Amino acid sequence: MKIVVIQGPNLNMLGVREQNVYGPMKLEDIHSQMKAFAEQNKLEIEFFQSNLEGEIVDRVQECIGDADGIIINPAAYTHTSIAIRDAISAVQIPTLEVHLSNIYQREEFRHTSLTAPVCAGQITGMGPFGYHLAMVGMTQILNEVKMMKEQQAKAQQQ
Ligand code: DQA
Repeated sequence: MKIVVIQGPNLNMLGVREQNVYGPMKLEDIHSQMKAFAEQNKLEIEFFQSNLEGEIVDRVQECIGDADGIIINPAAYTHTSIAIRDAISAVQIPTLEVHLSNIYQREEFRHTSLTAPVCAGQITGMGPFGYHLAMVGMTQILNEVKMMKEQQAKAQQQ
């Protein structure tokens, strides 16, 4: 089972950027923790960060036949990108949306997520721990999908 983690614009600046909002942790440290969790749970994991909307759309599309689950923080594109929303919707792969900050406590333009309605769930405001929660949530989703497929295969044999 493979999880692809997609990080949107300016998340490469974590640890430098607005530490009062996003904290001191760097993206590579968040990814190391996710990798450790994946290894413990025998999951494959791959990371991708881009500041460009089209590259994020491409990476979501490339998940077809490659990933069983997607964890995405679309960052500012959360609030603007119909293209990323459509890509998530198109690939039909369970997706969890993560935000470090609580977007509903911030400026009004951050209160709308165009991407969350096509995701299985959203974790917001838990800081870097939100990515860990997303890994736990995705593990549960993947187990449920696996069980459903096994039941379907059994039913077909009967
Ligand atoms: C963010 C919240 C967005 O509103 C913002 O544009 C980001 C980061 C978060 O993780 O809290 O870049 O997605």
